[in-house]
Amino acid sequence: MSQEFFSDHTVYLDQAATSRPKAAGVGEAMRFYIEEVCANVNRSTYTPATDAAIHVLETREKLCALFGFSDPTHVILTPGQTVSLNMVIKGLLRPGDHALVSSVEHNGVMRPLTQLLDHGVSFDRIPMHDDDTLDLDAARKLIRPNTKLMILTHASNVSGTVLPIADAGELCREHGIFLAVDAAQSAGHIPIDLSSMHVDALCVPSHKGLRGPAGIGAMLLSPALAKALDPLITGGTGSDSHTEVQPDYMPDRFESGTPNLPGVYGLHAALCELEREGLAWRQSQEEALLKRFLRGLDTIVGIRIIGTRDLARKIGVVSIDCTTVKDNAEVADRLATEFGILTRCGLHCAPNTHKTYGTFPQGTVRFSFNSSNTEKEIDLALEALKRILH
Ligand code: ALA
Repeated sequence: MSQEFFSDHTVYLDQAATSRPKAAGVGEAMRFYIEEVCANVNRSTYTPATDAAIHVLETREKLCALFGFSDPTHVILTPGQTVSLNMVIKGLLRPGDHALVSSVEHNGVMRPLTQLLDHGVSFDRIPMHDDDTLDLDAARKLIRPNTKLMILTHASNVSGTVLPIADAGELCREHGIFLAVDAAQSAGHIPIDLSSMHVDALCVPSHKGLRGPAGIGAMLLSPALAKALDPLITGGTGSDSHTEVQPDYMPDRFESGTPNLPGVYGLHAALCELEREGLAWRQSQEEALLKRFLRGLDTIVGIRIIGTRDLARKIGVVSIDCTTVKDNAEVADRLATEFGILTRCGLHCAPNTHKTYGTFPQGTVRFSFNSSNTEKEIDLALEALKRILH
């Protein structure tokens, strides 16, 4: 089975959708699990089962090291970011509870919350200031006696704008509110240090900034939230097998069923590669590309860049609204078909983000990159845009 999907000339600038290529060693690690290990965890002690268990444990430990978190038992491996967010939202909120979200959330947050509106849960959106910063004074005023949870994206998947989760954490701590952070776009791109922040749930996918496979993610839980949260999924854990009651200790409380073990091996390899390269190096490479791209966009007439341009609070995600064309989708289509430049256009599963930025319903063309992209690719994208919009 072999098919050439990408030519040597393809420029992949859709890293916010999923990373490409995956980190070195990911494919081989997954093959190794499937073809050589092929054993379950937590059920037996023969050698391959022990190898799988060690990979699970080391994956938790590596995530702790990456995010300044001290307790591997509170690193829950999940089937991915959407499941993690559902586990937090639906595991915590009960009829009569209130939640706060930013105005730039992804549907991974908004759809579970909207679903709960029919079950007596309510929420408010924290507005953004005109300079694309989160209005924390407004957030303070929106807090009610029944506010239980604040959920913030760490970085918008539309604009790349980074929200101030440390400050939001302080606000939540003052008011006894749990803070959950959707780090879908920030994990593996910029530092996240939980030891210095009041965050109760950090949800991270494997397949984006960490450059591991899809179908696995992690949720790093504070002890307080772990106790307050009802497990959404219960079942066999390989522990406490004498009883039909779900264990209440961690991580078993939230990890039922056989985990995605090929995914664990892949994520483990991706984390090893991230340790080798260093997050600081990846971040500086990405920032240099971002700077180059923003400067280049300034030389092209007919482009509105969405969100902040402040490099200190922006990751390598840039959305543009092409003001001289009728349809941004046409620009994305021409980038792909005429120039081999792959982006994502439309509303990016974040309708309210586009309403916030004034790009609803037309959407934007989104370019997203990471440190595996090159200056040459950035220049090719700029040149293609010039030719399309001339
Ligand atoms: N949430 C991903 C994106 O923004 C899929 O493209």
